[in-house]
Amino acid sequence: MAGKALLKNIAAPKQLAGEISVPGDKSISHRALILSSLAVGRSQLTNLSPGKDCLSTMNCLKALGVKLTGQSGSAPTVHINGVGNGGLTEPDNILNAGNSGTTIRLLSGVLAAQPFLSILTGDRSLRSRPMKRLIEPLSAMGADIHGRDNDSLAPLVIKGKKLHGIDYTLRIPSAQIKSAILLAGLFAVGITVLKQLQVSRDHTEKLLKLMGAELQTDGRNISLTSLKTQLTSLNLHIPGDISSAAYWMVAGAIHPNANIKITNCGVNPTRTGIIDVLMAMGARLKLENQAIAGNEPVAELHVESSRLKGIEIGGELIPRLIDEIPLLAVAACVAEGKTIIRDARELRVKESDRIDSTIKELRRLGARIEELPDGMVIHGGTSLLGNEVQSHGDHRLAMSLAVAGLVARGKTSIQNAGVVEISNPNFWGELSQLTQN
Ligand code: S3P
Repeated sequence: MAGKALLKNIAAPKQLAGEISVPGDKSISHRALILSSLAVGRSQLTNLSPGKDCLSTMNCLKALGVKLTGQSGSAPTVHINGVGNGGLTEPDNILNAGNSGTTIRLLSGVLAAQPFLSILTGDRSLRSRPMKRLIEPLSAMGADIHGRDNDSLAPLVIKGKKLHGIDYTLRIPSAQIKSAILLAGLFAVGITVLKQLQVSRDHTEKLLKLMGAELQTDGRNISLTSLKTQLTSLNLHIPGDISSAAYWMVAGAIHPNANIKITNCGVNPTRTGIIDVLMAMGARLKLENQAIAGNEPVAELHVESSRLKGIEIGGELIPRLIDEIPLLAVAACVAEGKTIIRDARELRVKESDRIDSTIKELRRLGARIEELPDGMVIHGGTSLLGNEVQSHGDHRLAMSLAVAGLVARGKTSIQNAGVVEISNPNFWGELSQLTQN
Protein backbone atom coordinates (compact mmCIF):
# COMPACT_ATOMS: atom_id res chain seq x y z
CA MET A 1 0.00 0.00 0.00
CA ALA A 2 1.44 3.40 -1.04
CA GLY A 3 0.89 5.07 2.36
CA LYS A 4 2.70 2.34 4.22
CA ALA A 5 5.72 2.38 1.90
CA LEU A 6 6.37 6.00 2.80
CA LEU A 7 10.02 6.84 3.46
CA LYS A 8 10.16 9.59 6.04
CA ASN A 9 13.24 11.73 6.61
CA ILE A 10 13.64 13.37 10.00
CA ALA A 11 16.22 15.93 11.04
CA ALA A 12 16.55 17.47 14.49
CA PRO A 13 14.54 20.72 14.59
CA LYS A 14 15.90 23.76 16.43
CA GLN A 15 12.79 23.88 18.55
CA LEU A 16 9.70 21.84 19.44
CA ALA A 17 6.98 24.15 20.68
CA GLY A 18 3.26 24.71 20.70
CA GLU A 19 -0.08 23.39 21.78
CA ILE A 20 -1.50 20.31 20.13
CA SER A 21 -4.30 17.84 20.57
CA VAL A 22 -3.88 14.15 19.80
CA PRO A 23 -6.56 11.89 18.30
CA GLY A 24 -9.19 10.12 20.37
CA ASP A 25 -8.13 7.12 22.39
CA LYS A 26 -7.90 3.98 20.26
CA SER A 27 -8.74 1.50 23.02
CA ILE A 28 -11.82 3.46 24.12
CA SER A 29 -12.90 3.98 20.50
CA HIS A 30 -12.96 0.22 19.76
CA ARG A 31 -14.96 -0.48 22.89
CA ALA A 32 -17.41 2.38 22.39
CA LEU A 33 -18.05 1.23 18.80
CA ILE A 34 -18.66 -2.38 19.78
CA LEU A 35 -20.75 -1.68 22.87
CA SER A 36 -22.94 0.94 21.21
CA SER A 37 -23.58 -1.53 18.38
CA LEU A 38 -24.85 -3.99 20.97
CA ALA A 39 -26.96 -1.36 22.78
CA VAL A 40 -30.46 -0.26 21.96
CA GLY A 41 -30.95 3.15 20.36
CA ARG A 42 -28.77 5.67 18.59
CA SER A 43 -25.31 6.45 19.99
CA GLN A 44 -23.09 9.37 19.13
CA LEU A 45 -19.31 9.11 19.47
CA THR A 46 -17.22 12.22 18.92
CA ASN A 47 -13.43 12.48 18.67
CA LEU A 48 -13.23 8.82 17.69
CA SER A 49 -9.76 7.48 16.86
CA PRO A 50 -9.11 8.09 13.13
CA GLY A 51 -6.63 5.19 13.08
CA LYS A 52 -6.98 2.29 10.65
CA ASP A 53 -7.47 -0.12 13.54
CA CYS A 54 -10.78 1.52 14.46
CA LEU A 55 -11.80 1.51 10.81
CA SER A 56 -11.31 -2.26 10.89
CA THR A 57 -13.66 -2.50 13.86
CA MET A 58 -16.24 -0.31 12.09
CA ASN A 59 -16.09 -2.38 8.91
CA CYS A 60 -16.55 -5.63 10.84
CA LEU A 61 -19.53 -4.17 12.71
CA LYS A 62 -21.12 -3.04 9.42
CA ALA A 63 -20.66 -6.54 8.04
CA LEU A 64 -22.53 -7.81 11.11
CA GLY A 65 -25.54 -5.67 10.23
CA VAL A 66 -24.85 -2.54 12.30
CA LYS A 67 -25.71 0.82 10.73
CA LEU A 68 -22.86 3.27 11.32
CA THR A 69 -22.77 6.69 9.74
CA GLY A 70 -20.55 9.68 10.24
CA GLN A 71 -17.88 12.05 9.16
CA SER A 72 -14.35 10.82 8.80
CA GLY A 73 -11.38 13.18 9.24
CA SER A 74 -8.91 13.75 12.01
CA ALA A 75 -11.58 13.65 14.75
CA PRO A 76 -14.42 11.55 13.36
CA THR A 77 -17.97 11.70 14.68
CA VAL A 78 -19.95 8.50 14.28
CA HIS A 79 -23.61 7.68 14.85
CA ILE A 80 -24.49 4.09 15.55
CA ASN A 81 -27.92 2.52 15.48
CA GLY A 82 -27.51 -0.19 18.08
CA VAL A 83 -29.05 -3.54 17.15
CA GLY A 84 -29.61 -4.68 20.75
CA ASN A 85 -29.05 -8.08 22.29
CA GLY A 86 -29.61 -10.71 19.58
CA GLY A 87 -29.65 -8.16 16.73
CA LEU A 88 -26.34 -8.91 14.98
CA THR A 89 -26.65 -10.86 11.73
CA GLU A 90 -24.44 -13.47 10.10
CA PRO A 91 -21.76 -11.83 7.94
CA ASP A 92 -21.77 -13.05 4.35
CA ASN A 93 -17.98 -12.94 4.12
CA ILE A 94 -14.84 -13.28 6.23
CA LEU A 95 -14.38 -10.41 8.70
CA ASN A 96 -11.03 -8.65 8.37
CA ALA A 97 -9.50 -7.12 11.51
CA GLY A 98 -6.49 -5.82 9.57
CA ASN A 99 -3.59 -5.13 11.96
CA SER A 100 -5.81 -4.84 15.02
CA GLY A 101 -5.46 -7.25 17.95
CA THR A 102 -8.19 -5.39 19.81
CA THR A 103 -10.65 -5.85 16.92
CA ILE A 104 -10.12 -9.58 16.50
CA ARG A 105 -10.05 -10.42 20.20
CA LEU A 106 -12.95 -8.27 21.38
CA LEU A 107 -15.16 -9.27 18.47
CA SER A 108 -14.38 -12.95 19.08
CA GLY A 109 -15.86 -12.55 22.56
CA VAL A 110 -19.06 -11.12 21.10
CA LEU A 111 -19.31 -13.55 18.19
CA ALA A 112 -18.77 -16.65 20.33
CA ALA A 113 -22.27 -16.03 21.74
CA GLN A 114 -24.20 -15.11 18.55
CA PRO A 115 -26.33 -17.76 16.83
CA PHE A 116 -24.37 -17.85 13.55
CA LEU A 117 -21.02 -18.63 11.94
CA SER A 118 -18.27 -16.07 11.57
CA ILE A 119 -14.68 -16.19 10.41
CA LEU A 120 -12.18 -13.55 11.52
CA THR A 121 -8.82 -12.89 9.95
CA GLY A 122 -6.23 -10.11 9.75
CA ASP A 123 -3.00 -9.05 8.10
CA ARG A 124 0.18 -11.09 8.22
CA SER A 125 1.24 -9.58 11.57
CA LEU A 126 -2.13 -10.29 13.20
CA ARG A 127 -2.20 -13.82 11.78
CA SER A 128 1.06 -14.53 13.60
CA ARG A 129 -0.10 -13.28 17.02
CA PRO A 130 -1.17 -15.70 19.78
CA MET A 131 -4.86 -16.61 19.96
CA LYS A 132 -4.74 -19.61 22.30
CA ARG A 133 -4.98 -17.20 25.23
CA LEU A 134 -8.34 -16.14 23.77
CA ILE A 135 -9.60 -19.50 22.58
CA GLU A 136 -8.97 -21.24 25.92
CA PRO A 137 -11.18 -19.10 28.19
CA LEU A 138 -13.89 -18.69 25.55
CA SER A 139 -13.95 -22.48 25.02
CA ALA A 140 -14.24 -22.90 28.79
CA MET A 141 -17.41 -20.79 28.54
CA GLY A 142 -18.77 -23.23 25.95
CA ALA A 143 -17.61 -21.45 22.78
CA ASP A 144 -16.98 -23.32 19.55
CA ILE A 145 -13.93 -21.41 18.29
CA HIS A 146 -10.99 -22.74 16.31
CA GLY A 147 -7.87 -21.40 14.71
CA ARG A 148 -4.94 -22.46 12.57
CA ASP A 149 -2.00 -24.37 13.99
CA ASN A 150 -3.86 -26.30 16.66
CA ASP A 151 -6.06 -23.37 17.71
CA SER A 152 -3.24 -20.93 18.22
CA LEU A 153 -3.46 -18.55 15.24
CA ALA A 154 -6.03 -16.62 13.16
CA PRO A 155 -8.04 -17.00 10.98
CA LEU A 156 -10.54 -17.93 13.66
CA VAL A 157 -13.72 -19.85 12.90
CA ILE A 158 -16.50 -19.23 15.39
CA LYS A 159 -19.79 -21.10 15.52
CA GLY A 160 -21.95 -19.19 17.97
CA LYS A 161 -23.16 -21.15 21.01
CA LYS A 162 -25.10 -20.61 24.20
CA LEU A 163 -22.34 -19.77 26.68
CA HIS A 164 -22.10 -20.01 30.44
CA GLY A 165 -20.24 -17.72 32.86
CA ILE A 166 -16.85 -18.74 34.25
CA ASP A 167 -14.59 -18.07 37.17
CA TYR A 168 -11.25 -17.33 35.52
CA THR A 169 -7.82 -16.07 36.55
CA LEU A 170 -6.13 -13.88 33.92
CA ARG A 171 -2.50 -15.00 34.09
CA ILE A 172 -1.47 -12.61 31.30
CA PRO A 173 -2.39 -8.98 32.08
CA SER A 174 -4.13 -8.52 28.73
CA ALA A 175 -7.02 -6.08 28.48
CA GLN A 176 -7.95 -7.62 25.14
CA ILE A 177 -8.49 -11.07 26.65
CA LYS A 178 -10.23 -9.62 29.71
CA SER A 179 -12.56 -7.64 27.44
CA ALA A 180 -13.27 -10.61 25.16
CA ILE A 181 -14.36 -12.68 28.19
CA LEU A 182 -16.51 -9.83 29.54
CA LEU A 183 -18.18 -9.34 26.15
CA ALA A 184 -18.90 -13.07 25.96
CA GLY A 185 -20.09 -12.92 29.58
CA LEU A 186 -22.75 -10.36 28.64
CA PHE A 187 -24.56 -13.10 26.71
CA ALA A 188 -23.65 -16.09 28.89
CA VAL A 189 -25.90 -17.78 31.42
CA GLY A 190 -24.92 -16.84 34.97
CA ILE A 191 -22.06 -14.83 36.36
CA THR A 192 -18.56 -14.30 34.96
CA VAL A 193 -15.87 -13.72 37.57
CA LEU A 194 -12.40 -12.55 36.55
CA LYS A 195 -9.34 -12.35 38.77
CA GLN A 196 -6.46 -10.23 37.50
CA LEU A 197 -2.94 -10.97 38.73
CA GLN A 198 -2.00 -7.50 37.45
CA VAL A 199 -4.42 -4.77 36.49
CA SER A 200 -4.71 -3.91 32.79
CA ARG A 201 -6.59 -1.01 31.16
CA ASP A 202 -10.17 -0.89 32.42
CA HIS A 203 -12.04 0.97 29.67
CA THR A 204 -14.39 -1.97 29.00
CA GLU A 205 -15.41 -2.16 32.65
CA LYS A 206 -16.03 1.60 32.81
CA LEU A 207 -18.15 1.65 29.66
CA LEU A 208 -20.15 -1.42 30.67
CA LYS A 209 -21.04 0.23 33.97
CA LEU A 210 -21.96 3.45 32.20
CA MET A 211 -24.26 1.56 29.84
CA GLY A 212 -26.15 -0.20 32.63
CA ALA A 213 -24.49 -3.62 32.77
CA GLU A 214 -24.41 -5.36 36.16
CA LEU A 215 -20.66 -5.22 36.67
CA GLN A 216 -18.78 -4.91 39.95
CA THR A 217 -15.08 -4.34 40.42
CA ASP A 218 -13.29 -4.96 43.68
CA GLY A 219 -9.59 -4.26 43.38
CA ARG A 220 -8.35 -6.76 40.84
CA ASN A 221 -11.57 -8.78 40.73
CA ILE A 222 -14.45 -8.26 38.35
CA SER A 223 -17.87 -9.81 38.43
CA LEU A 224 -20.38 -9.51 35.59
CA THR A 225 -23.95 -10.77 35.46
CA SER A 226 -25.28 -11.56 31.99
CA LEU A 227 -27.54 -8.96 30.37
CA LYS A 228 -31.06 -8.94 31.72
CA THR A 229 -31.95 -5.61 30.17
CA GLN A 230 -30.46 -4.02 27.08
CA LEU A 231 -27.35 -1.83 27.21
CA THR A 232 -28.24 1.84 26.93
CA SER A 233 -26.92 3.96 24.06
CA LEU A 234 -23.90 6.26 24.46
CA ASN A 235 -23.25 9.93 23.87
CA LEU A 236 -19.53 10.04 24.35
CA HIS A 237 -16.69 12.42 23.61
CA ILE A 238 -13.58 10.28 23.52
CA PRO A 239 -10.52 11.75 25.28
CA GLY A 240 -7.18 12.15 23.53
CA ASP A 241 -5.05 9.02 23.37
CA ILE A 242 -2.30 9.00 26.01
CA SER A 243 -0.44 6.45 23.90
CA SER A 244 -0.31 9.01 21.05
CA ALA A 245 0.49 11.90 23.41
CA ALA A 246 3.40 9.89 24.81
CA TYR A 247 5.53 10.56 21.69
CA TRP A 248 5.35 14.30 22.32
CA MET A 249 5.92 13.86 26.06
CA VAL A 250 9.20 12.06 25.34
CA ALA A 251 10.14 14.32 22.41
CA GLY A 252 9.59 17.36 24.65
CA ALA A 253 11.60 15.88 27.50
CA ILE A 254 14.63 14.86 25.42
CA HIS A 255 14.82 17.74 22.93
CA PRO A 256 17.08 20.55 24.21
CA ASN A 257 14.69 23.34 23.22
CA ALA A 258 11.13 22.18 23.80
CA ASN A 259 7.95 23.46 25.35
CA ILE A 260 4.83 21.47 24.44
CA LYS A 261 1.27 21.51 25.69
CA ILE A 262 -1.05 18.60 24.90
CA THR A 263 -4.74 19.31 25.48
CA ASN A 264 -7.58 16.93 26.40
CA CYS A 265 -5.47 13.85 27.08
CA GLY A 266 -6.91 10.76 28.76
CA VAL A 267 -5.13 10.04 32.05
CA ASN A 268 -6.85 6.87 33.21
CA PRO A 269 -4.56 5.46 35.97
CA THR A 270 -4.39 2.10 34.16
CA ARG A 271 -2.62 3.92 31.30
CA THR A 272 -0.43 6.54 33.00
CA GLY A 273 2.68 4.44 33.57
CA ILE A 274 4.48 6.59 30.98
CA ILE A 275 3.82 9.74 33.03
CA ASP A 276 4.99 8.09 36.26
CA VAL A 277 8.18 6.81 34.64
CA LEU A 278 9.03 10.07 32.87
CA MET A 279 8.54 11.96 36.14
CA ALA A 280 10.73 9.44 37.98
CA MET A 281 13.37 9.94 35.26
CA GLY A 282 13.32 13.66 36.05
CA ALA A 283 11.10 14.97 33.23
CA ARG A 284 9.68 18.46 33.60
CA LEU A 285 6.17 17.21 32.97
CA LYS A 286 3.04 18.62 34.58
CA LEU A 287 -0.62 17.67 34.53
CA GLU A 288 -2.93 20.69 34.54
CA ASN A 289 -6.70 21.26 34.48
CA GLN A 290 -7.56 17.71 35.49
CA ALA A 291 -11.21 16.83 34.95
CA ILE A 292 -13.56 13.97 34.16
CA ALA A 293 -14.85 13.89 30.59
CA GLY A 294 -16.59 11.10 28.72
CA ASN A 295 -16.45 8.90 31.85
CA GLU A 296 -12.63 9.07 31.94
CA PRO A 297 -10.09 11.34 33.70
CA VAL A 298 -8.49 13.89 31.36
CA ALA A 299 -5.82 16.55 31.76
CA GLU A 300 -3.63 18.98 29.90
CA LEU A 301 -0.01 17.87 29.78
CA HIS A 302 2.83 20.33 29.75
CA VAL A 303 6.36 19.16 29.03
CA GLU A 304 9.65 21.01 28.71
CA SER A 305 13.25 20.08 27.90
CA SER A 306 14.60 17.98 30.75
CA ARG A 307 17.68 16.13 31.94
CA LEU A 308 16.57 12.53 32.28
CA LYS A 309 18.23 9.81 34.30
CA GLY A 310 18.03 6.02 33.87
CA ILE A 311 15.51 3.94 35.80
CA GLU A 312 14.42 0.33 36.47
CA ILE A 313 11.01 -0.60 35.12
CA GLY A 314 9.14 -3.87 35.79
CA GLY A 315 6.32 -5.62 37.64
CA GLU A 316 2.87 -4.06 37.84
CA LEU A 317 4.02 -0.96 36.01
CA ILE A 318 4.45 -2.88 32.75
CA PRO A 319 0.76 -3.27 31.78
CA ARG A 320 0.31 0.46 32.50
CA LEU A 321 2.85 1.42 29.82
CA ILE A 322 3.19 -1.67 27.64
CA ASP A 323 2.67 0.21 24.36
CA GLU A 324 5.15 2.95 25.34
CA ILE A 325 8.20 0.72 25.90
CA PRO A 326 9.84 1.22 22.46
CA LEU A 327 9.48 4.96 23.06
CA LEU A 328 10.85 4.73 26.60
CA ALA A 329 13.86 2.94 25.14
CA VAL A 330 14.50 6.11 23.09
CA ALA A 331 14.28 8.28 26.22
CA ALA A 332 16.62 5.85 28.02
CA CYS A 333 19.27 6.16 25.26
CA VAL A 334 19.47 9.89 25.91
CA ALA A 335 19.10 9.71 29.72
CA GLU A 336 22.11 9.64 32.01
CA GLY A 337 22.93 6.17 33.35
CA LYS A 338 21.40 2.76 32.84
CA THR A 339 17.74 1.83 32.29
CA ILE A 340 16.57 -1.73 32.88
CA ILE A 341 13.23 -2.93 31.53
CA ARG A 342 12.03 -6.35 32.77
CA ASP A 343 8.80 -8.39 32.94
CA ALA A 344 7.82 -7.22 29.45
CA ARG A 345 7.88 -10.53 27.55
CA GLU A 346 4.47 -9.60 26.09
CA LEU A 347 6.32 -7.16 23.82
CA ARG A 348 7.45 -10.14 21.78
CA VAL A 349 3.89 -10.76 20.55
CA LYS A 350 2.79 -7.24 19.64
CA GLU A 351 2.55 -5.83 16.07
CA SER A 352 6.24 -6.81 15.82
CA ASP A 353 8.55 -8.51 18.34
CA ARG A 354 9.09 -5.13 19.98
CA ILE A 355 12.10 -6.22 22.03
CA ASP A 356 13.92 -7.44 18.94
CA SER A 357 12.76 -4.71 16.53
CA THR A 358 13.36 -1.82 18.94
CA ILE A 359 16.88 -2.99 19.78
CA LYS A 360 17.79 -3.65 16.12
CA GLU A 361 16.66 -0.24 14.92
CA LEU A 362 17.94 1.84 17.85
CA ARG A 363 21.35 0.16 17.50
CA ARG A 364 21.41 1.48 13.93
CA LEU A 365 21.24 4.96 15.46
CA GLY A 366 24.15 4.19 17.79
CA ALA A 367 22.25 3.04 20.87
CA ARG A 368 23.93 0.71 23.34
CA ILE A 369 21.29 -1.84 24.31
CA GLU A 370 21.44 -5.42 25.54
CA GLU A 371 18.58 -7.82 25.00
CA LEU A 372 16.90 -9.68 27.86
CA PRO A 373 14.32 -12.44 27.30
CA ASP A 374 11.70 -10.15 28.86
CA GLY A 375 13.09 -6.69 28.24
CA MET A 376 16.31 -4.79 27.68
CA VAL A 377 19.15 -2.95 29.35
CA ILE A 378 19.85 0.47 27.83
CA HIS A 379 23.07 2.31 28.50
CA GLY A 380 22.24 6.00 28.41
CA GLY A 381 24.22 9.10 27.61
CA THR A 382 24.35 8.23 23.91
CA SER A 383 24.49 10.88 21.18
CA LEU A 384 22.24 9.27 18.60
CA LEU A 385 23.38 9.47 15.00
CA GLY A 386 20.93 9.56 12.07
CA ASN A 387 20.79 6.50 9.80
CA GLU A 388 18.38 4.41 7.75
CA VAL A 389 15.95 2.52 9.94
CA GLN A 390 12.74 0.60 9.36
CA SER A 391 9.40 0.31 11.11
CA HIS A 392 9.01 -3.50 10.84
CA GLY A 393 5.42 -2.65 9.87
CA ASP A 394 4.87 -1.53 13.47
CA HIS A 395 3.20 1.86 14.01
CA ARG A 396 4.60 2.35 17.51
CA LEU A 397 8.15 1.59 16.41
CA ALA A 398 7.84 4.03 13.46
CA MET A 399 6.77 6.84 15.80
CA SER A 400 9.45 5.98 18.39
CA LEU A 401 12.12 6.12 15.68
CA ALA A 402 10.77 9.49 14.55
CA VAL A 403 11.21 10.79 18.11
CA ALA A 404 14.76 9.41 18.14
CA GLY A 405 15.33 11.27 14.85
CA LEU A 406 14.34 14.55 16.52
CA VAL A 407 17.44 14.40 18.71
CA ALA A 408 19.83 12.47 16.45
CA ARG A 409 22.66 14.18 14.61
CA GLY A 410 22.09 14.18 10.82
CA LYS A 411 19.26 12.57 8.92
CA THR A 412 17.15 9.65 10.12
CA SER A 413 15.27 7.92 7.29
CA ILE A 414 12.41 5.70 8.38
CA GLN A 415 11.30 3.09 5.86
CA ASN A 416 7.68 1.98 5.82
CA ALA A 417 6.73 4.98 7.95
CA GLY A 418 3.16 5.26 6.60
CA VAL A 419 2.26 2.54 9.09
CA VAL A 420 1.69 5.31 11.70
CA GLU A 421 -1.83 5.43 10.19
CA ILE A 422 -2.71 2.38 12.25
CA SER A 423 -3.10 4.54 15.35
CA ASN A 424 -2.43 8.15 14.33
CA PRO A 425 -2.76 9.32 10.70
CA ASN A 426 -2.13 12.81 12.07
CA PHE A 427 1.30 12.03 13.50
CA TRP A 428 3.38 13.83 10.84
CA GLY A 429 0.96 16.78 10.92
CA GLU A 430 1.41 17.08 14.68
CA LEU A 431 5.18 17.00 14.21
CA SER A 432 5.13 19.79 11.64
CA GLN A 433 2.84 21.82 13.92
CA LEU A 434 5.42 21.56 16.72
CA THR A 435 8.35 22.48 14.50
CA GLN A 436 6.71 25.52 12.88
CA ASN A 437 6.91 27.88 15.82
C1 S3P B 1 -5.16 -3.01 24.18
C2 S3P B 1 -4.53 -3.82 25.06
C3 S3P B 1 -3.09 -4.09 25.01
C4 S3P B 1 -2.35 -3.06 24.16
C5 S3P B 1 -3.05 -2.80 22.87
C6 S3P B 1 -4.45 -2.27 23.12
C7 S3P B 1 -6.62 -2.84 24.29
O1 S3P B 1 -2.88 -5.35 24.44
O2 S3P B 1 -1.02 -3.49 23.93
O3 S3P B 1 -2.33 -1.85 22.11
O4 S3P B 1 -7.19 -1.91 23.70
O5 S3P B 1 -7.23 -3.64 25.02
P1 S3P B 1 -2.97 -6.72 25.30
O6 S3P B 1 -4.37 -6.85 25.78
O7 S3P B 1 -2.60 -7.81 24.34
O8 S3P B 1 -1.98 -6.55 26.41
